[in-house]
Amino acid sequence: MKDALSPVSRSRRRRTTGFTAGAVAVAALSAAFVTAPSPPFPPSAAPSAPGPSSEPSPPSGPSAPRSVEPDAKASESPWIRPAGAPPTVFAHRGASSAAPENTLVADEVARRGGAKWIENDVQPSKDGVPYVLHDATVDRTTDGTGAVRSLTSAELDALDAGSWFAPAYAGARVPTLAAQLADLRERGGNLLLEIKGRHSRAEVARIVREVGEQAITRRVFVQSFDVPSLRYAHELAPELPLGLLRDTLDPDPVAVAKELGLAAYNVSHVALARRPEVVGALHAAGVAVNVWTVDTPARWKAMDDLGVDGIITNRPAELGGWTAGRSAG
Ligand code: G3P
Ligand code: CA
Repeated sequence: MKDALSPVSRSRRRRTTGFTAGAVAVAALSAAFVTAPSPPFPPSAAPSAPGPSSEPSPPSGPSAPRSVEPDAKASESPWIRPAGAPPTVFAHRGASSAAPENTLVADEVARRGGAKWIENDVQPSKDGVPYVLHDATVDRTTDGTGAVRSLTSAELDALDAGSWFAPAYAGARVPTLAAQLADLRERGGNLLLEIKGRHSRAEVARIVREVGEQAITRRVFVQSFDVPSLRYAHELAPELPLGLLRDTLDPDPVAVAKELGLAAYNVSHVALARRPEVVGALHAAGVAVNVWTVDTPARWKAMDDLGVDGIITNRPAELGGWTAGRSAG
């Protein structure tokens, strides 16, 4: 099971129930954002994002219980949370429970909900332009049809990526990676960028180049299920931290992490729960552990107790509140 609630299930539920509570709450923001994509971010509301030359945000915030103590190697990694810190919140496809996934408005909702990290998926158009979209086709999340790789950038630019989720988001677009990165640079935050599906070296090079052009390399963490993509990324930009996505655990995750030069091993929470000792082994090797996609307090607690470093969730504001509330309680 990849998601506690699969994208398809979420889509069907949204189509039948109309507005979600979250969508209603951010409808005004959506309307303003869709019609005026780049308003200045109010300093009072801005998240504490690092500048382009600063280090990535380490986990911060109130203490939370955890069962696995970091060892010496773990303390050398900025991606492994210190004892007493809560897990990092990654907003999966933006705040995808409250806004249409992988759009700029979903990213903005995540930021305003306190998430310092946003997860997005990237894949190329027919003419080689990287776009932010999860599925292999545009059918589920836009008003168009067809494979992303069969559509030109002009065709992708014309699609409505918001109406499927709720009328308030009509007019939201499928962002290019360049637009997404520029938005991130302007508005703040860090990006967990998933290279979605098999990519050629040239396609990965385009992604790496666009990240470099926005001068936010130090705010981007690359992840992929596709091992060759990670190898290409490492060859092209060894400064980019890498995470390997896994549905199931490798027999020896530490060996895989060392071989690929991983900063993080990003595994399904269901798989990790079957062999929780893997967390300690990876930490001992200086490799962080992030889990996906976790949307309930019971599972947040289970993963927190295992000592994972980050939780990828469709409900980033709720998870942020949960970590704060848990420590306060
Ligand atoms: O970030 C982890 C998660 O995004 C991997 O699965 O299918 O949602 O891209 P998927
Ligand atoms: Ca993803």
